This record gives sequence, structure tokens and C-alpha cells, in this order.
Amino acid sequence: MTTDVAATPARPQAPARTAVKRRYLMCRPTYFDVVYTINPWMHPEVPVDHALVTSQWENLRATYLGLGHDVEVIEGAPGLPDMVFAANGATVVDGKALAVSFHYEQRRAEAQLYADWLRADGIAVTDAVAINEGEGDFLTVGRRMIAGTGFRSDLASHAELAEVTGLEVVTVELVDPRFYHIDTALAVLDDDNVAYLPQAFSPASQARLQELYPGAIHVSLEDAKVFGLNAVSDGHNVVVASQASDFIAALEAAGYHPVPVDLSELLKGGGGIKCCTLELRPAPTTS
Ligand code: ARG
Repeated sequence: MTTDVAATPARPQAPARTAVKRRYLMCRPTYFDVVYTINPWMHPEVPVDHALVTSQWENLRATYLGLGHDVEVIEGAPGLPDMVFAANGATVVDGKALAVSFHYEQRRAEAQLYADWLRADGIAVTDAVAINEGEGDFLTVGRRMIAGTGFRSDLASHAELAEVTGLEVVTVELVDPRFYHIDTALAVLDDDNVAYLPQAFSPASQARLQELYPGAIHVSLEDAKVFGLNAVSDGHNVVVASQASDFIAALEAAGYHPVPVDLSELLKGGGGIKCCTLELRPAPTTS
């Protein structure tokens, strides 16, 4: 018997992925709670385990630090139980920020606290006119922004985003109330690649995403429901909900390094890893 080595099917070669150091802002979950319902995940009658929230949040922070990223911390505020979801605090691109203006009254006071923190950090902040919920709906993919609308951020905010960032802004429409922010339905993996749940978007938006990202990873409803798409990537390491097993396998096959983290107690508020993380993108270095 002979073995024909050449006949063995070649293992498809996943591209090499490169990590880029990031700077994140996280909000300490001191006052996190579920006391009202503004998304389908929130059930105030289900108690929150505060010790578990704290340890899961600390573990996320330690994970970023362990990957070599910088993590800044803003303190939470009493009466603002959703402030832990820092992604909703602003959109920061090239060292400039567009502030937020929340859809629901319950969260409106957070906007000023985030804007103040960013200004104190030296970031130029432009006030929001139309309703926008920051990186919850505005995702940066290289030099393009993908902006969601349908449940929270108003369409008019997309023009403000384009003006502040000077980047191309592609509008997509969300259609499933469980995936009310785009960061629950689409994960940015690097400057050219994303992963998403197709049916969370209108047919026209699905077609647009397919055209822009033909190589994207399509994620199952099952993995999206555990907030698998609410992930944070540095271009190589993808911090992802540990429950999203098929997505984790798909990331590995595509050459990324999944870093599973359990943030299940925060899902009681309708948030996950990305929701707890605001990326502070610096001004481009002139060299
Ligand atoms: N309870 C919060 C809300 O409904 C959760 C926000 C989650 N944040 C996010 N970036 N998806 O506003």
C-alpha cells in the first residue's frame, strides 16, 4: 500500500492576524441593577447577584490588561444602573468624540458624565443633537463606520457621526428587538472583517453587509442569544462570551484567537462584553 502525500487535501490556511494595542474605558459596576425594562432581556423581578457582577467585570478588565491593553475606569453613579455599559457613553475615533443622547429617559443623565470624563482626558467632544447611543450603534471597521438604527439611535445621528469623524458611514437597519443595538448583532474583528447575525438586519441591510464583507463570519441565533457577537477584538485576540461555542470555533478556524469570558450576570441588563467596553481610539500619529 502506498500513501500519496500529495492527495491529502491541504488544510485551508487561515490568514495571519495581528493584534493592535487598544485603550478602553470601562465603568465600575457598583450601581448596576435591573430595576426597569428598556430591552427584552431585562426582568426586574429576577435578582442580580452583585458579587458575581463584580467578579465577572473584574475578570473582563483583567483579561484586557493581560492582553496588553490599557483600561481606564470611570466610576458609576447612584441611580444610573445601566452606566456600566460604557459602550453607550460615546463614540471615540481619531481622538475625537461624538457624545451621546439616550433614547430612554432612564439613561439620559449618563451622557454628561461620560462627556465630562472624556473632556478631562483631553478628548475633543462634540455634543449630540439627534439621539445616538454611542458605540452601541456606531461600530468602527477600519476607516468605515457601520451605524445601526431601528430601535435606539435615530437616523439623523448618522450624519452627525459622519461630520465628526469625517469617515464613510454606512447605515444598517436592525429589525429584531432582542438585538436592539448593533453591537449585539455585529462584531468587528479587524479593519476589514466582521461577524454578524444576518436575520437581525433588514433584507436591504443584509445585502449591503454581504457586499461590503463577503468573507464575514455568519453567526447562529443560538450564539447571538448568549451575546456572542457582543465581542471585543484587537485584530487577533477576540474577547467573546464563553457560551458562544460555534462562534468560538469559527473564530479559531479563521485565524483569530478567541479569549472566552463569562459575563452572564450582565446579560440580565441586556449587555455583554462589548457593551461594557468603550474604545478610546487615539489621534493618528504624524510621523
Ligand atoms: N440595559 C441597557 C440598555 O438597554 C443595556 C445596554 C447594552 N449596551 C450595548 N452597547 N448594547 O440600554
